[in-house]
Amino acid sequence: MIGVFDSGLGGLTVLNALTRRFPGQSFVYLGDHAHVPYGNRSSEEIIDLTRIAVDRLFGLGCGLVLLGCNTATAVAARRLQTAWLPATPWKAQGHNVVGIVAPTVEAATQTPWAVTTPQYPQKFLTDRIAVFGTTRTVASNVYAEEIRKRCPKVTVIQQVCSELAGAIEAGAAEAELDRLVEAGIAGVLRQAGGEPPHRAILGCTHFPLVEHLFRRHLPPATRILSQPEIVADSLEDYLARHPRYRGDPASLPRLVLLTTGDPEEASARARVFAGDAARGGWRNALSFERLGA
Ligand code: DGL
Repeated sequence: MIGVFDSGLGGLTVLNALTRRFPGQSFVYLGDHAHVPYGNRSSEEIIDLTRIAVDRLFGLGCGLVLLGCNTATAVAARRLQTAWLPATPWKAQGHNVVGIVAPTVEAATQTPWAVTTPQYPQKFLTDRIAVFGTTRTVASNVYAEEIRKRCPKVTVIQQVCSELAGAIEAGAAEAELDRLVEAGIAGVLRQAGGEPPHRAILGCTHFPLVEHLFRRHLPPATRILSQPEIVADSLEDYLARHPRYRGDPASLPRLVLLTTGDPEEASARARVFAGDAARGGWRNALSFERLGA
């Protein structure tokens, strides 16, 4: 089984792409609704909450946990991989935790993560990439640093959308979500002196839930990179190299959605987004269960 973790509903955008791509694979999704949003929390809090969640998913039988959350990835992934996991019995059992920033940077730069110097022709790429994220993701600077390492002439414009994930979780009205998205895009255009970005990374997994609003306000020429699809591509490649995480191909695929919060509320909120077929539709019946003690 593969675990997918997010602070709340955002990781469902990733899960949706994964269940389409891997119809035979079992997934356990965990949304930490008791603590959402993560984006304005301290790094130590985010590391602790992410560690607890990953530990729970391992305990539920997931050999691999994917952090379907940019904030958790930007702040906690490396600490968990290098300091926490090796000190746990999970490591000897072959468990692993991976994030979603590396595949997104790979896709944005067309450069493998392991290659950290500019290669031809990336060296000469000069476009503008807007990255929309939470306070903590932008503060980590990970997207700007990792993209510039590989494509030094690319301009990375980072924009904090500090209230957007929380507003999505709180079920804010469309007009309010629209206002927050418009303000974020205005911030990018201001930083870029009015020049439209060539590409945009919705660097918070909640944001694709309102991708239509980003599309409405971004200049028509700006291409939105689909992080859920990028992550699905990357997981496909990872599973080809690490087939043990695929689980037993003979057993029926299971999908379990867990929340640390109120399952009724999480399910109702998730269905608001899932119901809109115009946004690609959702393959999954979205019924959350409470994560047991
Ligand atoms: N969905 C998460 C992300 O990708 C976290 C949003 C939040 O909890 O603030 O950043």
